[in-house]
Amino acid sequence: MNQREFIGDSRAIQELRKLVRRVAQSKANAVLIYGETGTGKALVAQKLHEQSERARKPFVDVNCASIPADMFDQELFGQDKGSFAGALSRKNGLIEAAHGGTLFLDEIRGLNHLAQTKFLGLLDRKSFRRIGAVHDVEVDVRFICATNQILFQEVKKGNFRDDLYYRLQVVAVNLPPLRERGDDCFLLTEYFVARFNKKYNRAIKGWDSEVENVFRAYGWPGNVRELENLLERIFVLESDDVIRISHIPPRIMREFEAASNAAVEAEALPAGLTFQEATEAYQTKLIKLALKQHGGRKAEAAAALGLTRHALRHQMSKLAMR
Ligand SMILES: Nc1ncnc2c1ncn2[C@@H]1O[C@H](COP(=O)(O)OP(=O)(O)OP(=O)(O)O)[C@@H](O)[C@H]1O
Ligand SMILES: [Mg+2]
Repeated sequence: MNQREFIGDSRAIQELRKLVRRVAQSKANAVLIYGETGTGKALVAQKLHEQSERARKPFVDVNCASIPADMFDQELFGQDKGSFAGALSRKNGLIEAAHGGTLFLDEIRGLNHLAQTKFLGLLDRKSFRRIGAVHDVEVDVRFICATNQILFQEVKKGNFRDDLYYRLQVVAVNLPPLRERGDDCFLLTEYFVARFNKKYNRAIKGWDSEVENVFRAYGWPGNVRELENLLERIFVLESDDVIRISHIPPRIMREFEAASNAAVEAEALPAGLTFQEATEAYQTKLIKLALKQHGGRKAEAAAALGLTRHALRHQMSKLAMR
């Protein structure tokens, strides 16, 4: 398995890293990972395995939502010879395959009631029975369960056993959404750009400051995966060696603009200034910003503001700017 780094240096991620290390080295045999889609739950599950004493033993990965309900039992618990017509040989389930190591149960709310009941018994007794068997099998497995939804809502709807929920809740790891990780999105961008440069044999050097503003304000509902996919799309479709705002899909730009408008609406009126003074202060700010972004070159700053050079000079003298 290619070992991937978990990128991030924000407060939230530093805390998470500590927690992951502690949980990995603990005796806990059940861990629950919460996080919105694309926040890195699968990656954290792998880290929990790699950093544990079980690292040299198997890491088995099951997506509970992709196994048909009537196959759960067989897939997870296995079956004994002759347990039903057609079962000619003994078949170990995934739980036994993970003996000594870690079983990652992704999308845990997809487990049906029967499997939930058997799973809870297994957590408490550390043993289970194959289908059709007369004896229990002991196993030593750490179960890491993941969900991108508030599991408690499934409990309230009656879809998830509350006793299993509370059992899993004992050691829970919460992955923060990307929008709460400060500048981590730029560390991740650097990391993905380096990876895609290699993969696509390219030499993209970085990104525009405008892109930075969009990345900072955007809500990233698909989190790290959305950022990764967006960057890969740019590698495939664009040939520039810098990521520019024109490469960002309209869907994201529309959200960014809506968010900026909301920010303007939320801004308080300047206190203690007349309308005239406040307008002038704002004009001064705009001109300073344009000059700063264009290295003090007045012609370029004027163009960025949609003014002629003459009009810019006039405004500046009116505002007593130099
Ligand atoms: N902190 C990170 N550093 C580097 N790569 C990351 C990080 N977080 C996520 N990724 C990458 O982002 C992608 C999505 O991560 P992952 O599959 O772990 O998310 P998930 O939470 O399991 O998503 P889902 O809920 O949709 O299953 C993967 O390619 C993963 O390697
Ligand atoms: Mg996942």
